[in-house]
Amino acid sequence: MCGIVGYIGPRNAAEVVIKGLKKLEYRGYDSFGIAVSSDQISILKKGGRIQESFFNLNELNSGLVIGHTRWATHGIPNDTNAHPHSDCSNNIALVHNGIIENFLSLREDLLIRGHIFKSDTDTEVIVHLIEEFYNGDLLYAVRDVIPLLQGSFAILVIAKGEKRIIAARYKSPLVLGIGDGEVIAGSDVTPILDYTPDVIFLEDGDLVSIRAEGVVIENSHVIIERLVTCVDWSREDARKGGFDHFMQKEIFEQASVFSQAIRSVDYEALKTILSGVKEITVVGCGTSYHAGMIFRYLTEEFARIPVRVEFASEFKYSPPPLHGLLIALTQSGETADTLAAVEIAKNYECTTLAITNVLGSSITRVAKNTLFMRAGPEVSVAATKSFIAELAVLFCITDCLSEGELRTQSLDSAHKAIEDALLIDIDPAVDLLKNAGTVFFVGRGWYYPVSLEGALKLKEISYIHAESYAAGEMKHGPFALLSEETPVVAICVEGPTYSVMISNIKEVKARRAPVIAIGNKGDTDLCAVADVVVTIPDTPRVIQILTITVILQLLAYRTAVALGRDIDRPRNLAKSVTVE
Ligand code: F6R
Repeated sequence: MCGIVGYIGPRNAAEVVIKGLKKLEYRGYDSFGIAVSSDQISILKKGGRIQESFFNLNELNSGLVIGHTRWATHGIPNDTNAHPHSDCSNNIALVHNGIIENFLSLREDLLIRGHIFKSDTDTEVIVHLIEEFYNGDLLYAVRDVIPLLQGSFAILVIAKGEKRIIAARYKSPLVLGIGDGEVIAGSDVTPILDYTPDVIFLEDGDLVSIRAEGVVIENSHVIIERLVTCVDWSREDARKGGFDHFMQKEIFEQASVFSQAIRSVDYEALKTILSGVKEITVVGCGTSYHAGMIFRYLTEEFARIPVRVEFASEFKYSPPPLHGLLIALTQSGETADTLAAVEIAKNYECTTLAITNVLGSSITRVAKNTLFMRAGPEVSVAATKSFIAELAVLFCITDCLSEGELRTQSLDSAHKAIEDALLIDIDPAVDLLKNAGTVFFVGRGWYYPVSLEGALKLKEISYIHAESYAAGEMKHGPFALLSEETPVVAICVEGPTYSVMISNIKEVKARRAPVIAIGNKGDTDLCAVADVVVTIPDTPRVIQILTITVILQLLAYRTAVALGRDIDRPRNLAKSVTVE
């Protein structure tokens, strides 16, 4: 995790870098810092979230700065473990995203050779190694150090007296924005788009000398040209646009996000990828894993094709026998476990298909095929619109496999249905949830993974303990926890599981737990058993997956707002989980 930014050019580089780091805070936000190159290298860094007031920009007048926002892996979050790190003489400074797995042995050797360490991080070994090789040319020194490192890294390095940044990438993302007489490097495109849409996505093994006039890229000691891509994400996409939080904005974008994702799927290309597929394995983490679970229910029902869904983190250590198609779901395209699962799948006779939101992300390099969900940048740590966009692409896959079954369920009605769901009154439900210590979410069939996602959203942004169960499982243990103080959110809509859900709700009520039910309009039976009923718009059954998801997202959001939580940056989390 962690985010890095570097700038070289005519602007106030510190201002560009700090602004860029704010955009990358989703990658980690427990400490921050910058290294400014002028007559000497000055490092300013601190524990905690980025505070712009910590920097006096008028005094930091330099055209060459690198910076970092951290999610701690080695060493607690504090001022000294914050990046940038410097060598013994403070002439070289470095920021790093990734993990150096062999740092312990490197550190021991460096200590024996007399280096003084200032932090507990794995990163600091890199800058001391560069110091050993440095002989007036930073590029040569970094080139010599890279073969000594094991693990993953995107690094930016500067040295006193050199008007350039040296960058290197291996298994951690790094993008270069190529402007007119200026270059900005970042962990993703968001710090870059304010200055230029033209970017280069670096590849593993790339080593770059960055000067304001342009970049020279080498890989395996050979100078190479990399394609310049024009990114079509608008700058507005990465701004709050009048909403109080990015999460709120991203929830409210979902009607168009769904339609856009559906439109962007190339059915002809998809048919080729899916041709002859008899079984499917899906891997993902967190919210993406939940999208995979919904896909399983839909594909098994409509296309009668068996689908297995695995946590990417588990799959890695016990990969099942694999045939057919492996689908990797990942908004960021950088989740370490999901990347590893795809690498493993390549050893089997199966095709790999990544579904991701981020152009040029690592997953696009490891999977044979990629579909982009085109949700636009998702800034809030909690995934919302990317879940809806993942579902849109997965619906298209199910539709293709079932020869149009799902399309006849009117995917086209989704846009209006999502818009209607955004307007539903959920105040009474929020009032009930905001005082709870524990909340249960229950559903059956494909509403079970929808309820899992509802519980995940509530716990991650409100910090209320939330659990989800397939409704039939509650009586096999969790009932012991029910009381008047444990609200249960029950998804109880028309369809094959309706009557049994009504019975399950009655069982819950008999244990005195308050029930917030999500159901259909005019359902008097449901109103008779539940304490609060939130009714969803009338739509085909499959579309209810989307409308209920929206309601659960809003429940989590509104509850967290009522509790005064830090909505877009919940504690202890980071959006892009690039470590195992
Ligand atoms: C939850 C959330 C996480 C991510 C998970 C996978 O709101 O954001 O659970 O879904 O870390 O991330 P991606 O999809 O980027 O692989």
